[in-house]
Amino acid sequence: MHNNTLSAYELKQLFIHYFGGSDNDIRIFTAPGRVNLIGEHIDYCGGSVFPAALTLSCVAAVRLNGTTRINMRADDLDGLYSIDLDNTSEGRNLKWGNYQAGVIHGLIEAGYSVRGMDMLFTGDIPFGSGLSSSAAIELTTAVAARELSENHDSMSHDNIELALIGQKAEHTFCGVNCGIMDQFASAMGRKDNAILLNCSSLEYRYIPLDLGDYRVVLANTCKKHSLGTSEYNKRRLEVAEGLKRMNKVLSRECRNLCDYTEEDYYAAEGSLTHDKIRDRVKHVILENERVRKAVSALEKGDLVKFGEILREANDSIRYLYEVTGYELDTMYDLACNEDGCIGSRMTGAGFGGCTINIVHKDFAAGFAENMKKSYTKATGIVPEFYTCSIGDGAREITV
Ligand code: GLA
Repeated sequence: MHNNTLSAYELKQLFIHYFGGSDNDIRIFTAPGRVNLIGEHIDYCGGSVFPAALTLSCVAAVRLNGTTRINMRADDLDGLYSIDLDNTSEGRNLKWGNYQAGVIHGLIEAGYSVRGMDMLFTGDIPFGSGLSSSAAIELTTAVAARELSENHDSMSHDNIELALIGQKAEHTFCGVNCGIMDQFASAMGRKDNAILLNCSSLEYRYIPLDLGDYRVVLANTCKKHSLGTSEYNKRRLEVAEGLKRMNKVLSRECRNLCDYTEEDYYAAEGSLTHDKIRDRVKHVILENERVRKAVSALEKGDLVKFGEILREANDSIRYLYEVTGYELDTMYDLACNEDGCIGSRMTGAGFGGCTINIVHKDFAAGFAENMKKSYTKATGIVPEFYTCSIGDGAREITV
């Protein structure tokens, strides 16, 4: 995906160029990327997270093709990738298209009669930037395949179901043991709202993201991360070990690390071996509490407090969870010295990608300019900056 989205008209013209026919039976579906405001690496520990869907999104033009194949192209890739509806497992081996194949596989498993389609993808979510371009591809595919399935009238129209199918696709087709946060935000996002999501019960609440004179500025380190090859899956194993230790020390049988409170952690701390696992546990349990505190500060309109909590969260993910790295740390350190910036932290899985920064609107342009100079000098990489707009979740676009 690249940085300019085609208009609906251009996308349809390109679709016709590749797949023929006319434009009256082409439909357009979209799903957004997301930014996570706070609650990092705790979705898979049953914690609460606070993401918001972006207006940066994946878009696909789609038409039924009367066959049993899904033929896919992207506007910035050569070649046609094809999934056989009778053998979706083959899609695991696609170098591009495994997200879509995993989702189609999941929809069929869930009882949808998915039909053959031609699909052309475009979008403007920078790939590998920690803004969930993969969840956006999954949810775009999911909503399109659901709406065009033969039995869609008799099936549920619950986007949460699609989020779960997307997550499973990551696990089974892409080798990433992710939590539910990204797919949920992409499926359920609401314009100008963040989502407070309990990842254990999937209960959620929309909270207006009203920052007054402040803006959320995304700073992209432009250091690509790749979850599959990163330490992500390793962290999951470490927190599973952490849960076992907490259960043992406190003689309980909690299902999730986030069932424990800050008090529980400090009660157990002395009996936990002083090592990386203890640090991971501390991050997870205290981060879960920080989400609650941050949301409450935001609801009271106390942005300074909100910003302070974001910085605390960054220290925790940096020193206890260790998923940042030189580029993200540099971006964060520079932001903390900028006028008008009251809070900053890495967002997403880490190992590259973006930071979010709460910046006073009068300083936003200068912030990006100064940061660009100093970050490039420190890392040799030219970063990108985006002022964040919060948009809606996965849906059909009717034009
Ligand atoms: C990735 C995963 C999410 C979540 C974040 C870290 O984005 O897909 O499930 O774990 O990392 O908070």
